[in-house]
Amino acid sequence: MLPEGIHRPVKVGIVGTGNVGATFAYALLLSGLATEIILIDNNRARAEGEAMDLNHAAPLARPARVFAGDYSDLAGAVVTVVTAGSAQRPGETRLDLAGRNAEIFRSIIPKITQFNPSGIILIATNPVDILSYVAWKLSGLPHNQVIGSGTILDTARFRYLLSEYFQVDPRSVHAYIIGEHGDSEVPVWSLANIAGMRLPVFCTRNNFGCIDHELEEIFTQTRDAAYHIIERKGATYYAIGAGLLRIVEAIIRDQSTVLSVSNLIQNYYGINDVYLSLPCVIDRGGVERVIYLELNDEEAIGLRKSASVLRKMIEDLGF
Ligand code: LAC
Repeated sequence: MLPEGIHRPVKVGIVGTGNVGATFAYALLLSGLATEIILIDNNRARAEGEAMDLNHAAPLARPARVFAGDYSDLAGAVVTVVTAGSAQRPGETRLDLAGRNAEIFRSIIPKITQFNPSGIILIATNPVDILSYVAWKLSGLPHNQVIGSGTILDTARFRYLLSEYFQVDPRSVHAYIIGEHGDSEVPVWSLANIAGMRLPVFCTRNNFGCIDHELEEIFTQTRDAAYHIIERKGATYYAIGAGLLRIVEAIIRDQSTVLSVSNLIQNYYGINDVYLSLPCVIDRGGVERVIYLELNDEEAIGLRKSASVLRKMIEDLGF
């Protein structure tokens, strides 16, 4: 039986059933977007346990078949989400993980494309921009088919914190974080808006102070959020799980949704041949196109710095 609104079987693969993979699997099950969810993990018992636990929710959610599988089960999957790899430890940066996780990808990515050369690959493993580039290179697929979750999470954090400051629904705040999903990310203040009004105009016409250091603090909290969460609870997984679900929904439902995700950037403010986040149009084919924003000088300088940090790491890894 297919969930309402879904007119053909929809298979989604998840490689890595740790905190992020399991949380995304749970969100995906409750969403009713998929009819089959395949959990792959080198710890097979863990994948089986997660599948058992999730299947017990099915009668209370939407019909879907969740099972621990192998890479061969990915055949026909609309999208395969990769969360496998080492997670950030307290005090570690995402870039510290690059070497360890690039080696894991040398094993994982060819097995995904062997059984599913036409599906989308969505990378969440950190450092996500570098590993998305690595996955693209290892896969041999067109870049639009290999996406990184990128700054979808940072953009959500930024919108949430701005919504608290301006006392409006976070969905009514339109603002992007671009560049690296990490310490060099860039807030696009020049284009941030509420009700179509850029923030300085919104402040003036709505009696908000818009104090520079208060807004800067919002960006600092956005950029550093993961460190503060990891210090307290050891990992982050709910918001990234929701971000992965939003990307997968845009793919499955072919929505042409604009989301800030990581993809190959070329000929942009002197930036070339690197994965980083800009707003992209996401549909059934993956990244339909990158939206190359018009940035002010400060933002362009910040993005070039972000790109150079990523390019150096990619070269250090030998890709
Ligand atoms: C974070 C992890 C997903 O920013 O990188 O929470």
